Amino acid sequence: MPGTSEQIARLREEGLAALAAACTESELLAAKGRFFGKKGAVSEILKGIASLPAEERKAVGAEANRVRAELEAVFDSRLAGIREGERLAREGRDRLDVTLPGRALPPGHRHPISRTMSDIIAVFRRLGFSVQGGPDVEKDYYNFEALNFPPEHPARDMQDTFYVESRDGDLVLRTHTSPIQIRTMEKTRPPVRIIAPGAVYRSDSDITHSPMFHQVEGLAVDRDITFADLKGLLTEFCRMTFGPGKPLRFRPSYFPFTEPSAEVDIRCVICGGSGCRVCKDTGWLEILGAGMVDPAVFGFVGYDPEEYTGFAFGMGVERIAMLRHGISDIRLFFENDIRFLSQF
Ligand code: DAH
Repeated sequence: MPGTSEQIARLREEGLAALAAACTESELLAAKGRFFGKKGAVSEILKGIASLPAEERKAVGAEANRVRAELEAVFDSRLAGIREGERLAREGRDRLDVTLPGRALPPGHRHPISRTMSDIIAVFRRLGFSVQGGPDVEKDYYNFEALNFPPEHPARDMQDTFYVESRDGDLVLRTHTSPIQIRTMEKTRPPVRIIAPGAVYRSDSDITHSPMFHQVEGLAVDRDITFADLKGLLTEFCRMTFGPGKPLRFRPSYFPFTEPSAEVDIRCVICGGSGCRVCKDTGWLEILGAGMVDPAVFGFVGYDPEEYTGFAFGMGVERIAMLRHGISDIRLFFENDIRFLSQF
């Protein structure tokens, strides 16, 4: 039956084409099933061989077996090819190039305000002061009243306060670190020698004022403490912070919690005193407020003003950092611009 051998030849062509077209292992298996698997077209022909005339059986059977073997050989080599291709693709994807440089994490460093703060603390520690803290959300009593700002007193206008809603209406964001003076004296007896660093808040914002900034407060109380001790301490502090040869100037001032009070200036670090934009042509830069503790403050904490005297001071950390580094806009400290911060 010539039809059968033509059929075999056509199956061979189609089988080879299907194997060539298969791109994946499952497509390859599908082609095998269709053409030369157990139930494939070639097997069907072999099954039907018995019905052929005896003289054709041998030739058709041999031809069908030859085609099946050929297709199987092509199948095996295509399967190996597809598997190899997948292996290479996987290896390419997963390849680890150990010669590539690692991903660099740029090392960070401390913020200039934190650094200035720790430098100030280190100086006072060496001068015998210990460090105290207090809450940022403070009672009106500690922030104002016990520091001798009576309610409604105009001295409160010196500080633009953020009030916090509360049941008794007596909470504020502390406007200065001075309340830590009161908190410390409430719980200890003299001698007292503390500094109190921390964030403070005022409703105030321009190139020299930020609504949040930092202060370091200082307090010393003992028998026979005088204004000379205050001057000596601050002179030493300035020498250690700004270097030698920077004279200090004490100007009379007013704070409710000190009497007498002073504002302290140093020789302008930019122009050395000849006058410039930073010192507004005065040759001096204000760096802190200070004074002798007002006896009225001792009254609030139960210290006997006949027995003890003390001095206190408070300085702005941003201000000191600005002077040390010649920075004219306080807002740069809080914008987190890496181009600014990486200079320190
Ligand atoms: N608390 C004051 C302020 O923030 C600064 C100050 C002045 C603190 C005089 C003091 C001091 O301890 O004695 O404006």
